[in-house]
Amino acid sequence: MNRLTEKAYAKLNLTLDVLGKREDGYHELKMVMQSVSLCDYVTLNMTAEPGIRLSTEWGFLPTDGRNIAVIAANVFAQAADVNLSGLEIHLEKHIPVCAGTAGGSSDGAAVLRGLNRLCGTGFSLEELAKMGEQVGSDVPYCVLGGTKLAEGRGEVLTPLPALPDCFIVMCKPAFAVSTGELFHKVDAVKIRCRPNTAGVIQALERQDLGGVARQMYNVFADALPANRAAVVADIQNAMIQRGALGACLSGTGPTVFGIFEDEGLAKAAAAELKENYRETHLVRPV
Ligand code: C5P
Repeated sequence: MNRLTEKAYAKLNLTLDVLGKREDGYHELKMVMQSVSLCDYVTLNMTAEPGIRLSTEWGFLPTDGRNIAVIAANVFAQAADVNLSGLEIHLEKHIPVCAGTAGGSSDGAAVLRGLNRLCGTGFSLEELAKMGEQVGSDVPYCVLGGTKLAEGRGEVLTPLPALPDCFIVMCKPAFAVSTGELFHKVDAVKIRCRPNTAGVIQALERQDLGGVARQMYNVFADALPANRAAVVADIQNAMIQRGALGACLSGTGPTVFGIFEDEGLAKAAAAELKENYRETHLVRPV
């Protein structure tokens, strides 16, 4: 086999708390992560022509060594001590970029999983997750997916009971946020409100979808500039008014998502939000 396609799923934060700044410049985080069915397709093709080449239809993405998929391929080659010689990576993108939903990290994770299969190197997912730490903070989670508690920089992962099946509307307003800038901002503001992470975990243990949805919270909601925060709040309110059990910001944003028990209500909410926000998707937990 010299060619395969891996799915790279988007992630959402059911909770996100920033506990403090670390000496290495990163932040100590505590978050409940969930992967969802919206995905990129990452195709890897081993060729005779030396070098790593990346292609994607989304012309604004870097295709050189700055792309996280290329970084992941280089990290894998070094860690596994294999000569990749010629590798073509094609990204069929569906996950919005700079959206707080781990599109880039998930592509990087898919490259690690895919190369492991292509090269027959037999690493476990846990070993690949460890490799992913060198690629980016969210990459270890993206290697594993599912419902997980992520701590430390994001790399200390504990499995949680799966989110009960439901319908999730994801909606990304048409602005991008800078992750680095928002982390700076969160250092400067006094965090007034924090998620009840333990409460969300207990609700997962009870398989209480409403209990999870009602307690979702992300501290970055308070660090957004006022005009952006207003757009996020409008989307959250629209979701709740249309029957969501809860709605929350994902990652450093700006994607907002709402959890619905009822498929019809979720479809109607997605259709209505799509009129104003092109990047709206109806997804399921995976
Ligand atoms: O690890 P990654 O390259 O994805 O992180 C991007 C940026 O997000 C970092 O440069 C840092 O500013 C911020 N970050 C952080 N603490 C974390 C994860 C990310 O401060 N735990």
